[in-house]
Amino acid sequence: MTQRVLTTRPALPGGGLDRLADRFELVRGSGQGKPEPAELRALAAGVSGILCLGNDRVDAALLDAAGPSLKVVALASAGFDGVDRDAAAERGVVVTHTPGVLAETTADLAFALILMARRRLGTARDSLAAGQWDTFRMDDYLGLDVHGATLGVVGYGQIGRAVARRAHGFGMRVLHHSRSASKDTLSTPVDLPTLLAESDVVSLNVPLNPATRHLIGAAELAAMKPTATLVNTSRGGVVDEDALLRALRDGTIHSAGLDVFAREPMGAELSPLVGEPRVVTLPHIGSATEATRAAMVDLAAHNILDVLAGRPARTPLPG
Ligand code: DGY
Repeated sequence: MTQRVLTTRPALPGGGLDRLADRFELVRGSGQGKPEPAELRALAAGVSGILCLGNDRVDAALLDAAGPSLKVVALASAGFDGVDRDAAAERGVVVTHTPGVLAETTADLAFALILMARRRLGTARDSLAAGQWDTFRMDDYLGLDVHGATLGVVGYGQIGRAVARRAHGFGMRVLHHSRSASKDTLSTPVDLPTLLAESDVVSLNVPLNPATRHLIGAAELAAMKPTATLVNTSRGGVVDEDALLRALRDGTIHSAGLDVFAREPMGAELSPLVGEPRVVTLPHIGSATEATRAAMVDLAAHNILDVLAGRPARTPLPG
């Protein structure tokens, strides 16, 4: 009997779903948005694999709804904070993700945020569009330099390193802080207090887990320079957003560039960080290029094909 594989979205970029459809019966979620958990559970019954996105919740209820046929859950995302890893391990289900293929694209976006926030590009663009560019003043639209500044990278995986590489092109001094001792020629390892105190730009590139939740709170923001910019392309939960808002409003730090939020998506109920002066906000688009999204789906499909063929997954979750 042909094995069945569930894709939580009916269509995804690239050829990954076609590759799966060649080999398996594909069960497709009904809408492009995040499916309701009850819909997912109903669709999952009896499938051997599930291809899902980073914002789908993979919990014991979903795994049990799939039942003993389920061998692999492949996320088309690097982050895996929505997965109950213990529940998957207890049921012998392999969980995979897509690190690596999105590192360069996400690092590009981190740099876009750095430039936008420090040079106040959104404010300048909006002022021009509103017809307010009426004369030249030496003190209009003043921002802070990126070149020659010190960048502190928190979390030194593939994305963190890609951010560090870009910083060298801007003549920046680069520091990093990571859980595991990691040395290279790109940047200097330091402890977190040193990084916060010495950096002009702090880039967050850690996964969200219990150890990193609210890693940046009031005390950490207070330890940063008043001219510093905080950039987050990882997960919103890494930052205490209330503390960040206070720090921006009282001048504890200069600016922020945020691609991720504690509550996603936002719909019309916007976070107060959106629209806050000196904050650049984007709707979680770190990996959103045509090539990278296709590569993520392709890698997730390969992981399913490999596991269901009895081969080791290419990119299982790290131990
Ligand atoms: C990731 O891959 O983790 C991105 O944030 C998209 O979910």
